[in-house]
Amino acid sequence: MAGMSESIPAYEATQSGALTPAMLADYRESGVLILRNFVSRDDCDSLKQRMLEMVDAFDPATVKTVFSTASDSHQADDYFIESGDKIRFFLEDGAFDDEGNLRQSKADSLNKVGHAMHDLDPVFDAFSRTPKLAGVAASLGFEEPGIIQSMYIFKPPRIGGEVLCHQDSTYIYTEPESCAGFWFALEDATIENGCMRFIPGAHKAPLRKRNYRDESGAIVNEIIDETPFDLADTVPAEAPAGTLVVFDGRAPHYSGPNLSDRSRHAYTLHVIDQACHYPESNWLQRNADLPLRGFHA
Ligand code: FE2
Repeated sequence: MAGMSESIPAYEATQSGALTPAMLADYRESGVLILRNFVSRDDCDSLKQRMLEMVDAFDPATVKTVFSTASDSHQADDYFIESGDKIRFFLEDGAFDDEGNLRQSKADSLNKVGHAMHDLDPVFDAFSRTPKLAGVAASLGFEEPGIIQSMYIFKPPRIGGEVLCHQDSTYIYTEPESCAGFWFALEDATIENGCMRFIPGAHKAPLRKRNYRDESGAIVNEIIDETPFDLADTVPAEAPAGTLVVFDGRAPHYSGPNLSDRSRHAYTLHVIDQACHYPESNWLQRNADLPLRGFHA
């Protein structure tokens, strides 16, 4: 059955974060669930403020070679691959003009910051490990949740790029698969500013690709299943600030470019079950001095 008329299940978040049976049934069916007012707008603003302080302290000149078109891609690959236990800044394509100056403000030039704010920054740590989130994870059946990465996504006005349709378990793969995305709208995400889009129910189909590092360290994109994503069936996940969107690691999703004049800041956590095997071939690795941790119950 085509999913063109389907919508993404949306509810008001519960006080405890625990999912009701109806929410859980919808999540199992759709692979994605919108929980409105999961966090307060004040908490969104505080997290945004903290990130803007970090952006203030960031000097784009330190990464200019990484993101300039002339750089060799190895440098950019290393900057990314080594970021699993750090706080690193990733600029949008087209952030610099021909003279090497940023076209827009620093915050409006960034694609994202990742991937360990939840471990390294106290404000992000507090936002990321609430008992309410523990409630969601417990409802989803996580035995021992671990927050494997955090990302702050800017989707800046005018230059915020498209993210092609993908499944997160392609990149955050465990055996058996356990990845789930916890995506917070820190600003209103709308069709105009490039909200996420999902294909409800498509998480029941196979994982299409696995992305991993081979023994030489090179990134491999292995095709597991050639079935294309049915992009005609995507549904927008519009989300007012304070909304949590939870989705299955197999749920195909993408977001269009932000051609509007409003940013679309979001914060995401990816959670895996530590009861599952986490291959050393996953690109995302952390130093042993930064052990994987879950939520505060
Ligand atoms: Fe994703």
